[in-house]
Amino acid sequence: DPELVAAGEKVFRKCKACHQVGEGAKNRVGPQLNGVVGRAAGAVDGFKYSSALEGMAGDGLVWDNESLAAFLADPRGFMKGTRMAFAGLRSDEDIAAIAAYLSTFGE
Ligand code: HEM
Repeated sequence: DPELVAAGEKVFRKCKACHQVGEGAKNRVGPQLNGVVGRAAGAVDGFKYSSALEGMAGDGLVWDNESLAAFLADPRGFMKGTRMAFAGLRSDEDIAAIAAYLSTFGE
């Protein structure tokens, strides 16, 4: 849905202080997000994750639409001890939009 993707690009402004996505994306405060939807958590080379994230990754966490929605709605509620200092997205529409936007970027 191109409209959802366009909406997600706008929502991603809230993430840009810490994350890059797209061609040439690099790790910053947060890991680069190319290919994140559908991938195991904690898998970006060269990024030092929190032990909280590594713990959930070790338990098999995969970033699909459902887990991403739960994390983005309340990062520190979903993942106690995460280093992602972000309050969370309040609206389900914004969460659906960001997942659609991120899904357009492969590895
Ligand atoms: C981790 C998405 C906002 C800092 C992550 C991960 C995702 C994500 C999917 C896990 C990546 C992986 O497992 O490889 C987003 C989205 C945001 C957002 C969609 C906006 C809606 C932010 C902001 C910051 C931030 C604003 C900085 C203030 C981090 C950090 C991690 C992380 C430090 C690693 C967490 C840890 O190791 O516990 N983010 N993020 N993020 N993000 Fe964000």
